[in-house]
Amino acid sequence: KEVAHKQMYEAHEFAANFYNHLLLNTVEGEKAYQYLEQRGFTRENIEKYNIGWALDDWEALSSLLQRQGFDMNEMEQAGLVIQRDNGTGFFDRFRGRVMFPLYDDHGTIVGFSGRVLEKSDKEAKYLNSPETPIFEKGRLLYNFHRARLNVRKKGNVIVFEGFMDTLTADRHGLENTVAVMGTALSDTQLIKLKRITNDLIICCDGDNAGWEASKRFAELVMQKGFSLKIAVLPNKMDPDDYISENGIEAFQEKIINRPHTYMSFILAYAKKSKNLSHENDVLQYIHEVMEELSGGLTPVEKDMMLRQLSMDTNVSVDALEQQYAKAA
Ligand code: CTP
Ligand code: MN
Ligand code: MN
Ligand code: MN
Ligand code: MN
Repeated sequence: KEVAHKQMYEAHEFAANFYNHLLLNTVEGEKAYQYLEQRGFTRENIEKYNIGWALDDWEALSSLLQRQGFDMNEMEQAGLVIQRDNGTGFFDRFRGRVMFPLYDDHGTIVGFSGRVLEKSDKEAKYLNSPETPIFEKGRLLYNFHRARLNVRKKGNVIVFEGFMDTLTADRHGLENTVAVMGTALSDTQLIKLKRITNDLIICCDGDNAGWEASKRFAELVMQKGFSLKIAVLPNKMDPDDYISENGIEAFQEKIINRPHTYMSFILAYAKKSKNLSHENDVLQYIHEVMEELSGGLTPVEKDMMLRQLSMDTNVSVDALEQQYAKAA
């Protein structure tokens, strides 16, 4: 049976191997190789994930695809090349970037994310493949094909915000992690995970955006009926930073094995932006927590929440309980 979009899949495989060859075997790839080395990737890691380098050149891939006989209009639909304005030929979408293949659930390459070597204001840090017939950013769960069995074995899955976090975890032997592509956590992704586990650990970056993402993810994860934990990182660190700096054992023991429940996360989240020596902040803190946690708490959770609030604010449990009864 003819596979739909066969050429698109083949071209991605071909492009990944081309980029990988440039990274590993050419002088032009040396800077990128050093960059990856400095981020902790070995040659074996680079081969395993088929990471590559897109030359800083307008036609390196385009001309090669053309010579290989690929239909260039289809290559444009696949997001690998872009048609020139004047209609005469095509140029490469990805130029001067470290290329990370994006795999679908079968382990087939369906797109790329390309990172600049140095962050700048001029260009986005990551350039992703556009939406194509074979790639939808919001549906793809990075590393799902590799993590699936390990998630079943371990009985839980860790969800990161960035695929770099997953790559770093994986090459340190933590193999039950997946990542969204810097997007919201979609229904499709959650349904996929629900089929293989009921226990989900959210572990977003330790910056403000990461805390916001944790909260948004958590709500969706609970709606789908998972048993949820939320692991948080020290300020400004992401999982990749933490693992690279402190090792995988510390990450496992200090971050993953000491997660928040949703309730304690909400307390920490609300407290984070407050100065509890100011009366206004105290009131705001209590208000926010009660809004977020109105309803849905078991009697034990309610008791724990009220006592924690009381400790944080020096307001009596009695008064807090009355207020909570009104909020609920
Ligand atoms: N992202 C993106 N475009 C950007 C920035 C981020 O598509 N300009 C997406 C990427 O999928 C990335 C995710 O958002 O994996 C998380 O972003 P960020 O935390 O900034 O990426 P890191 O994984 O920390 O990247 P690095 O360590 O390379 O800086
Ligand atoms: Mn290869
Ligand atoms: Mn981030
Ligand atoms: Mn990050
Ligand atoms: Mn990072």
